[in-house]
Amino acid sequence: MKKSSPVSRSGRFSSGPAADVAKFTESISFDWRLWRHDILGSMAHAAMLQKIGILDRGELKAIVQGLNQIGQEITDGKFRWKEELEDVHMNIEAELTKRVPAGAKLHTARSRNDQVALDVRMWLRDELVDLNEEIRMLQRSLVDLGARFSEVIIPGYTHLQRAQPVYFAHHLLAYVEMLDRDAERVQDCFQRTNVCPLGSGAIAGSTLPLDREFVALELGFVDSKGRPRVTQNSMDAVCDRDFAIEFCSLAALLAVHLSRLAEDLILWASSEFNFVKIADAYTTGSSLMPQKKNPDIAELTRGKTGRVVGNLMALLTLLKGLPMTYNRDLQEDKERLFDSVDTVRATARIVGAMLQNTSVNVESCAQASSDPSLLATDLADYLVRKGMPFRQAHHAVGLVVGFAEKTGKKLNELTTAEYQAIDKNFGSDIHSVFDLQKALALRNLTGAPSGSQVRKQLARWSKILPSAKSRPS
Ligand code: ARG
Repeated sequence: MKKSSPVSRSGRFSSGPAADVAKFTESISFDWRLWRHDILGSMAHAAMLQKIGILDRGELKAIVQGLNQIGQEITDGKFRWKEELEDVHMNIEAELTKRVPAGAKLHTARSRNDQVALDVRMWLRDELVDLNEEIRMLQRSLVDLGARFSEVIIPGYTHLQRAQPVYFAHHLLAYVEMLDRDAERVQDCFQRTNVCPLGSGAIAGSTLPLDREFVALELGFVDSKGRPRVTQNSMDAVCDRDFAIEFCSLAALLAVHLSRLAEDLILWASSEFNFVKIADAYTTGSSLMPQKKNPDIAELTRGKTGRVVGNLMALLTLLKGLPMTYNRDLQEDKERLFDSVDTVRATARIVGAMLQNTSVNVESCAQASSDPSLLATDLADYLVRKGMPFRQAHHAVGLVVGFAEKTGKKLNELTTAEYQAIDKNFGSDIHSVFDLQKALALRNLTGAPSGSQVRKQLARWSKILPSAKSRPS
């Protein structure tokens, strides 16, 4: 069975594509979501065509009205997308031309090659703005949780072994820093996405005197001074998908950061750690074991990282062997890009909400951080303050740890005499090293976990980040 495809194939082809070809090559099933930007791009292009005398005022008005009407029907769910029209561009243009004769002039000096590059850039720009906001809100949730439990101390870990004590808030603030770099990358990606490719045509621009800067201004492709930003090479403009790859790359890194946070939360919520309690509404039960409360949001956050990393690999692989310029392969960019955008945006939102519904088990944290061996390094620093070279101090404290282990005592349970038997530089004040609050207060370098440094960081972020109240519902 053969169906005809009215827009692009008229003239050269004696028949439309076979039904199975249409099914294989269509992109309308996923690129329909570019419709809003496709319409905005067409309106700007039409306004420019009127400015250079290709459309008259009446034609422009009819085109804009027709496009608005189609936009309304799409919003209302009344527009019928047709697979045989391949993609969002052809669907909208064909419908417009059916209603408005001047619609047939809309594609003047335009190709779907520069049109799709335009639409995806515009779509991604909007998503980047939203994602930036969502990352900010997630940072805010971390800062709020840290501030709610600002006195809580936990063991910090290396090799998943207890290492040194830190404020719980200090641990959370590490993620705030990671997310801040992610947000910077989002803004950076915006800069390179925000360049207008329209006017590049299929590959070689147009013989008609288009005003590319006018279109760029209409569509907000401007620099910080409001000057239009247009692509500088027509071939590059139609085949370049760097901006999509950059996005998928920053999304992969963001997903990795979220995955590490999720892993910490999973560990902390386990009975073995028992540092945090995630509210019931943000956990799930087991269908078999009645006692179970599972951190599924955190687990899915960790799990979804696989697909986001995979999307980046897919796009890099898609591009690597393509000859210049546009090849239909490029149509495969959209589902990967959409999926990365959807996944990281949804994940950032739900993790933020989960953190707002998470509390700290103060008792368990106090219990875990009271382990005096967490302060073994502080014992070595004590000896360094007495003038001992650090390597020697490390050795002396190693002997202390070995002795404590052998005698079944904790480091703070050894007597001054026992310390002095190992090294006479240990003084009668040696037990003051085990005062946890004082030990942390001494770690007062920039970026270190003393109470005053952590408070300073919490205050700094509270000022920078949007308040939780401004959160969109
Ligand atoms: N649906 C196509 C895509 O996503 C639009 C561009 C088609 N251009 C072409 N010359 N066939 O890439």
